[in-house]
Amino acid sequence: MLAIIGGSGLSQLDNLEITRRQVLRTPYGEPSSPATFGRVGGVEIVFIARHGYGHTLAPHEINYRANLWALRDLGVEEVIAVNSVGGIGDGMAPGVLAIPDQVVDYTSGRSHTFFEGADQPVVHVDFTWPFDPAVRTALLQAGAAAGIALADGGVYGATNGPRLESAAEIARLRRDGATLVGMTGMPEAALARELGLAYAMIALVANWAAGCGDSTNRIELDQIPAILDAGMIHVRELIVQRARQLPA
Ligand code: HPA
Repeated sequence: MLAIIGGSGLSQLDNLEITRRQVLRTPYGEPSSPATFGRVGGVEIVFIARHGYGHTLAPHEINYRANLWALRDLGVEEVIAVNSVGGIGDGMAPGVLAIPDQVVDYTSGRSHTFFEGADQPVVHVDFTWPFDPAVRTALLQAGAAAGIALADGGVYGATNGPRLESAAEIARLRRDGATLVGMTGMPEAALARELGLAYAMIALVANWAAGCGDSTNRIELDQIPAILDAGMIHVRELIVQRARQLPA
């Protein structure tokens, strides 16, 4: 089964034929939202709202472990994460949809592994390529089939938030090679890897990051909702197209 974790701007999937909702429990506590099951493009998918349906959970308050654990418990094999991001790199302008291929993690104080505690072995998962290459390729093919322009690749810098970054912090991220910045991609991607889930991200650029593009002096937050609304139309189409590629 395919799972979608929706972020800011995607707290539900309008084109989902809803079949049922289920409250989820895990050894790590409750996930961000109940799971919504439905059919998209002829296949069953499950949706979780990362910030909760009322968008009440800040990035550092999200129970990433519960979200991923619950999805794995439901029999999910593939996870498509939808994340709104700031653009740092050339071409990563507001409205762009990117399929990142790398991560730099600047978060702290989050539960970032399942392998801790006296009863757990120490396990070091390979994270050379943080996003599943096959799911990335499938998303890029889905974009081409649906006529949706996608940036192939991107380095996602994960910051703690909830405040936005200073211009100097973004300049540092740029020096580190980050082309996108967001607050929720980690530890989510790493936890998915620990559970063996095939995980990839659709990143929608909501704004130029601090000090970049038209955000030299400040980030105009009131412009973001319209950009997210317009971009999420394409994200929904992309998800439908990806679902259609899967066996019904
Ligand atoms: N920084 C961090 N996270 C974000 C941004 C940003 O500029 N825009 C959307 N999510």
